[in-house]
Amino acid sequence: MNLFQGHKAIAVPQNVIAWDIDPYSKEVLLNPETFFSALREKGPFVYLNKYKMLACGRYKETKEVFSDHKRFVSSRGVGIQDFKLEKPWRPPSLVLEVDPPEHTKNRRFLTRALSPNKISQLKDFFKDCADKLISELLEKKKIDGISDLAEIFPTRVFPEAVGLKKIDKETLLGYGAMVFNALGPDNQFRKDAMAKGLPVLEKINKQCLEENIDTKGLAKEIYRSTAENLEEDQLAGMLVRSLLSAGIDTTVSAIGNLLWCLAENPEQFQLVKNDTSLVGNAVEESLRLTSPVKAFCRTSAADTEVSGVTIEEGTKILCVLGSANTDPEVWETPYKYDVTRRTIGHLALGVGVHNCVGQTLARAEITALASSLTELVKVIKPGDKAIWKPNNAMRSLESLPIILET
Ligand code: HEM
Repeated sequence: MNLFQGHKAIAVPQNVIAWDIDPYSKEVLLNPETFFSALREKGPFVYLNKYKMLACGRYKETKEVFSDHKRFVSSRGVGIQDFKLEKPWRPPSLVLEVDPPEHTKNRRFLTRALSPNKISQLKDFFKDCADKLISELLEKKKIDGISDLAEIFPTRVFPEAVGLKKIDKETLLGYGAMVFNALGPDNQFRKDAMAKGLPVLEKINKQCLEENIDTKGLAKEIYRSTAENLEEDQLAGMLVRSLLSAGIDTTVSAIGNLLWCLAENPEQFQLVKNDTSLVGNAVEESLRLTSPVKAFCRTSAADTEVSGVTIEEGTKILCVLGSANTDPEVWETPYKYDVTRRTIGHLALGVGVHNCVGQTLARAEITALASSLTELVKVIKPGDKAIWKPNNAMRSLESLPIILET
């Protein structure tokens, strides 16, 4: 078989435009909106000449492909590589990278550990930490929204909530950057992230072992319930690893992106301050507009068809969530940050059986921080130019100089 970047190289399907763009290039990763608009304009799918695969960015097809787990599987990897044809760099995730029925069984352990009831018990802890951090930062006034806030808050509260002993910020961030960059082609971003991240892999795996888990944390529940249900040595550790892989970089990016939205749109921040019932929606709208998980792949399990396009078995499809979330067919003035918008249906936390299992936890963390900001800060404004960070799957900031006023 003709393999390309670890997947089957397909020919251009009929009625599909072949495009020379590289969605993983620095230029596109740093300015995704121009790419999103062009992608949607070219049709329900485009053929990427550089990668010999398909991409979709209209809401309708992106949602269909991303959520139809029978026709478009995750077990062959949610990145560009097809695990059926090439060995993945690490043992695949037991939730993100498997299909039902195995997925259903494994996910149940996480759903139980991350239940709304368990998360609601963490709300006061998140809020106290958020209040403390924002109060400290108000002393400084001019801060970097990323290194002073977005990277600090989740790396403080998440390990404690999960019950991980002795894990440092650099290890968590290095690992997260590697996991998400690894979903792209073997470009410089992937190479750099692997070079930095691989040395911490052993440390991460060790952290997930039962002896390193605090009895009060959420991860302990995973060990408890897997022990009750079946005797698989590796299962609980691998499930805890999936929380570490998916729970840090995503939340760091989402918080950074929310700060960017609020700083760039001071009138929207004032709206939230005047009506705090809008806090939750301000968070959702930032997720919709900036889609921290920008694009993941699916692989077609058999020959099929979507919106009149024939898709052959083994086709990799890049599902561009950021583009679906700004599709003008669904979202009026899609690039405007509007805290009063009806945000239901955005795909930033996925859709279908693989939808984000950590979303209650993520929302609790981010909402706690957003509440502290609205209560303690009078004005948030840009201090200097925001710098975005290229990443093969995420949309996040490198640096965000902002000024906080009381
Ligand atoms: C705002 C922050 C977050 C965003 C934007 C986000 C986004 C997503 C998306 C888009 C998916 C779907 C992937 C797919 O269908 O292929 C997903 C799945 C997942 N997320 Fe999140 N996530 C966030 C926070 C978290 C947190 C805090 C955790 C852990 C506590 C977590 C754990 C997971 C796991 C384990 C999956 C796989 C679920 C499955 O395959 O059934 N995520 N997330």
